[in-house]
Amino acid sequence: MEILEAKTFLDDVINGLSLTQKQLSPKYFYDEFGAEIFERICTTPEYYPTRTETMILKNNVAEIAQRIGPNAALIEYGSGALEKVKIILDALENPNALVPLDISKEQLNMAAKKIKTEFPHLNVLPLTGDFTKLVKLPKELLNAEKKVAFFPGSTIGNFEKEGAIDFLKSVRATVGENGLMLIGVDLQKDRDTILKAYNDEAGVTAEFNKNILMRINRELDGNFNLNDFKHIATYNEAHHRVEMHLRSLTVQTVCISGVNFHFDLHETIHTENCYKYTHESFSRLVEAAGFLAADTWTDSEGLFTVVLLTSKFRQ
Ligand code: AVI
Repeated sequence: MEILEAKTFLDDVINGLSLTQKQLSPKYFYDEFGAEIFERICTTPEYYPTRTETMILKNNVAEIAQRIGPNAALIEYGSGALEKVKIILDALENPNALVPLDISKEQLNMAAKKIKTEFPHLNVLPLTGDFTKLVKLPKELLNAEKKVAFFPGSTIGNFEKEGAIDFLKSVRATVGENGLMLIGVDLQKDRDTILKAYNDEAGVTAEFNKNILMRINRELDGNFNLNDFKHIATYNEAHHRVEMHLRSLTVQTVCISGVNFHFDLHETIHTENCYKYTHESFSRLVEAAGFLAADTWTDSEGLFTVVLLTSKFRQ
């Protein structure tokens, strides 16, 4: 990690653990190890979003490609392993470029190299960074006929409402008024299905949640004992969100870069919210950001939806 990024990480951790309800930002899940554990979550039998979204994309790709049109430049936000974008690229007419954008540099470069071998004529321009900030596109894209942001996986669900609106506005600014956004959204459903997805039997989600403590130990000279914390995922019906926490199993003091943090028995660190939407609540959200939900593709069980957004102010 760059020195400046390490300083921000340390500041964020110290500030977050100083709050009455201790918290850590989920963006810090995704170091090299976290990104790899997340890929494993996606293959657990309980985690329905990945396979459902992939199926929706495969079943509707001809129509999606037709709506996007020829010569599009794709910008994938939080691109990870780049598996889903291949489905779209295969069906697009003469895609102009792909800009995979991710916070995890190692995974990004590996995935970009791999996709280049599979699509040798595609201009692949990887960008490392925090995609929640305004994105400065590579100059090759400035004249692209149509820019299309691709944001699969329901990562929009990890933003608070205001943060989601700000992020969508920044995407709109990046793709321009003639641009599009193709976004995956996890839908509200029975509590049991949702809870199982975040409490998988094999304990991969628990490993993912605890990796944030490992990362603090590795990068910020912390001394968390992982056995003294338990992964917790509950569903908050009132807010339509999964809440992930790490619960302290003892009374303990943890030291991070020389700063001590006290934990009471059962006290938690709140690590993530995963909001679940309805078609209506998602439409309202995107409209607040100046987008319109123009097309929607959903699986037959109504678990997940893929939505194509156009700007409200399209010329
Ligand atoms: C990346 N994001 C959409 C995942 C989710 O479902 O909210 C992150 C995750 N957290 C635990 N499991 C998966």
